[in-house]
Amino acid sequence: MESKISILVTCLTFATAFQLLLPLSEASLKVGFYKKTCPRAESIVKSTVRSFVRKNSGLGAGLIRMFFHDCFVRGCDASVLLDPSPANPDPEKNSIPNNPSLRGYEVVDAAKAALEKECPGVVSCADIIALAARDASFLLGKISYKIPTGRRDGKVSNNAEVLQFLPAPFFNLSQLEASFAIKGLSTADMVALSGAHSIGRSHCSSFTSRLYPNIDWTMSQRFGFFLRRLCPQNATVDGVVPQNFFKPNRLSAQYYFNVESLIALFFSDWTLLTSQKTAQQVDAYTKVPGLFEADFAKAMVNLGNVEVLTWPKGEIRGPTCRL
Ligand code: HEM
Repeated sequence: MESKISILVTCLTFATAFQLLLPLSEASLKVGFYKKTCPRAESIVKSTVRSFVRKNSGLGAGLIRMFFHDCFVRGCDASVLLDPSPANPDPEKNSIPNNPSLRGYEVVDAAKAALEKECPGVVSCADIIALAARDASFLLGKISYKIPTGRRDGKVSNNAEVLQFLPAPFFNLSQLEASFAIKGLSTADMVALSGAHSIGRSHCSSFTSRLYPNIDWTMSQRFGFFLRRLCPQNATVDGVVPQNFFKPNRLSAQYYFNVESLIALFFSDWTLLTSQKTAQQVDAYTKVPGLFEADFAKAMVNLGNVEVLTWPKGEIRGPTCRL
C-alpha cells in the first residue's frame, strides 16, 4: 500500500512539474498581459498605427507582413527589427525577402517611443508587432480579434536564417505546407493567412519569372500581358504593382476570387488550387460571407504563438526596437 502511494505521489509530482515546464512559452501569453503594468499599452499602439495607416494604408499591409516575417524566423521575437551591430553584423532585415520590400519600421519606432515614455522597459517589441498587425487588420479589413501578449524579445538576428524559413513566391503547395507545418501551422491557417495578399504591393522581381519569356499558363494570359506593361523585361528599376487591382487597400476575400480567376501575382497563390482541400477552402471564402474574416483572425492568433519567448527567456528591448 505504502509503495503504491509513493508511486502515485511520484507520478503526480512528475505530472505537475511536466505541466509547469512544458507549455511555459504558450501558457504565459495572455490577453491583456499589460493591463496592470501598462494599462494604456494597447491603445497607444492602436492610435500610433491609426495615425500612420490613415496617411499611408500601405504601411498597414507592411505591418501585417512584418508580423509574418518576424514569427517565421526565430519565432515572434522582434528579431526582424534589429539593425546591424557588432552582435548581429548581418541581421534578418538585410535579407532578400525583407530588403528593400519590408515596410512599417517607422510605425513600430513611433509606438515604442510613446510606450517608453508611458511605461519604460515594459512592453516588448515583439508584442508591438503583434498588436500593430492586429490593429492594421481592423483598419484595413474591419477584422477584429483579441491577441494574447507577453512575448519577449530575442537578441539574435541572422540574415542566413530568413531564406531557410520564409516561403518563396515560386513554392508549390507541398513546399508551402511544409514551411507552415514546421512552424506548427496548418494548411488551413496557410490558406487563410494568404488572404493578406488582398492588400499592399509587390515588386515586379517577385513574379517576372511568370511573365518572361512566356506568360505562365497558370496565369490569365490577359493579366500576364497587362503585367508585362507594368513590369517591362529590361527595366532599370524594380517597379511595384498592387497585389489586388480591385480594392488594393481592403483586406478581404477578394484575394480568393483573384486566385480562382488566375489573376493573383504569385505561383504560390495559384498553387492553392492544386489540391482538392485547399481549392475547396479558397472557394468557400468566395461564397460564405464572413468566413474568411473569421478564419483570418484565428490564424493570426495562431501565427502569434509561433516559438514565442516568455519570461524568463528573452528581454524587453529598449529604448528602441532596433538595437
Ligand atoms: C504563403 C506563402 C507566402 C509567400 C510565398 C509570400 C510572398 C510574398 C511576396 C513575394 C510579396 C511581395 C514582396 C515584394 O516584392 O514587395 C508579398 C507581399 C505581402 N505579403 Fe506575402 N507571402 C506569403 C504569405 C503571407 C502571409 C502569411 C502574410 C500575412 C499574414 C503575408 C502578407 C503579405 C502582405 C501584406 C504583402 C504586401 C506587403 C506590402 O505591401 O508592403 N504574406 N508576399
